[in-house]
Order: sequence, then C-alpha cells, then structure tokens
Amino acid sequence: MKLDPQTMDFRDLHHLLAGAIVPRPIALVSTVGTNGVQNVAPLSSISIASVMPPMVTISLSTRRRRAGEQKDTLRNILASKEFVVNVPVTESMALAMNLAGAEYPSHVSEFAETGLTPIPADLVQAPMVAEAPVSLECRMVHMLEFGELPSVSTLIVGQVLRAHIKDEFFADGQLQSSRMQAIGRLLEPYCRTRDIFDFKVEYTL
Ligand SMILES: Cc1cc2nc3c(=O)[nH]c(=O)nc-3n(C[C@H](O)[C@H](O)[C@H](O)COP(=O)(O)O)c2cc1C
Repeated sequence: MKLDPQTMDFRDLHHLLAGAIVPRPIALVSTVGTNGVQNVAPLSSISIASVMPPMVTISLSTRRRRAGEQKDTLRNILASKEFVVNVPVTESMALAMNLAGAEYPSHVSEFAETGLTPIPADLVQAPMVAEAPVSLECRMVHMLEFGELPSVSTLIVGQVLRAHIKDEFFADGQLQSSRMQAIGRLLEPYCRTRDIFDFKVEYTL
C-alpha cells in the first residue's frame, strides 16, 4: 500500500505520522504566562536537535476545533522565551500527565488541576515539575512555523541552560534511564519501558 500525502486530510496525516513514529517520548513542558499562571502540558514532539550545544525541539499545534487558537504553552514561550522540559513522564506520573493534556482556560493552572508539584527553577521563571526525574531549563533560540490557520504547527528550538537530575537516577557518572519507568506514546495509547534489552556493541559518539 502507498499513500500520497498531497491527497490526505489532517486526520489521516496525523494517523500516518503519529502511528508510524512510535514509541514517542513524552515531556511535560512547564511555562508561566504573562498573567503569572503556571502552565504544564504533555508534548510527545520532544526531540534532541543538537548535543553540543545542547538543543531540544518541541512542536505545538494550534487548536483546529477552536479556529486555530494558540495553546497556552506556545503563547507563554513566545512571550517569555523560556520553558522547562520535564522528562521522562514515568508510570507514576501517567495519570496526572494525561489530565494535564485536557483543555483548561488560560487562567487555570494545570498544576492545581493535576496535583503535579511546581518548584522554582534556577535560571528561568517557568517552574519545574518536582515529580520528573530530569528537568531541563531552556531558552527559546529559534522558532519555525508550518501550515496555515486553523492548522499551524510551531517548532521551537530551546537551548538547555541547566539540567536538574534526581539523585536516585544518577549513578556511575551517568543517568540511569532504565530505572525511571518511563512511558511512551503509540498512536493514542501509552507503552511502558519495563522490557529492556541491549547489544554489547562498542560505538563512538
Ligand atoms: C501524551 C500527549 C502528547 C501530546 N503531544 C503534543 C504535542 O507534541 N504537541 C501539541 O501541540 N500537543 C500535544 N498534546 C496535546 C496538548 O497536551 C494539549 O493540547 C494541551 O491542552 C495543551 O495545553 P496548553 O494549552 O496548556 O498548552 C499531547 C497530549 C498528550 C496527552
């Protein structure tokens, strides 16, 4: 079977890309609005853009059913140029993460709605999520838009200014990701990372 993206609508294109690019990591991205409200949203579009300098990317789509309204996360990042990437979402954070993905009005903080705990970051105004194994304080350095209203996606590139790691996940000089019980996303459902394997192959970075 072959598909021609030129002839596909939004839903089918979403199913194609989000169904094929699996499992996707999930980050909780925290920001603060010009109204002072602390915001947190799950994003599975998190990726590494560069290691040195350390750059991460996230992508925010507009709300198609609301005439292409911008999400709070994007609005806050464009205004403050700051955000925190809290990763990975773990099994114990899954329910709160899923709740944070619901639509709340801008004056409502997802921290209050979900029970996730905001704690101050060092270098940015956006809060960190206390429950996350790792929090990356980021400053926006690039922004790229795709599409037309009501369906615009904005790719944000953030430079990692500081990393916070929970001590229990750091040993022998490195992160112990396999201990984190990270979850990922398939098309819609979630998956666990309990079943881990490795190849003893040496390679250089
Ligand atoms: C697991 C998961 C992954 C998501 N990934 C994205 C994403 O990469 N980009 C995006 O725009 N929305 C994504 N969403 C939807 C947003 O979390 C959702 O639209 C949320 O309401 C945005 O909140 P905000 O308005 O506070 O920014 C995801 C939702 C879930 C549950």
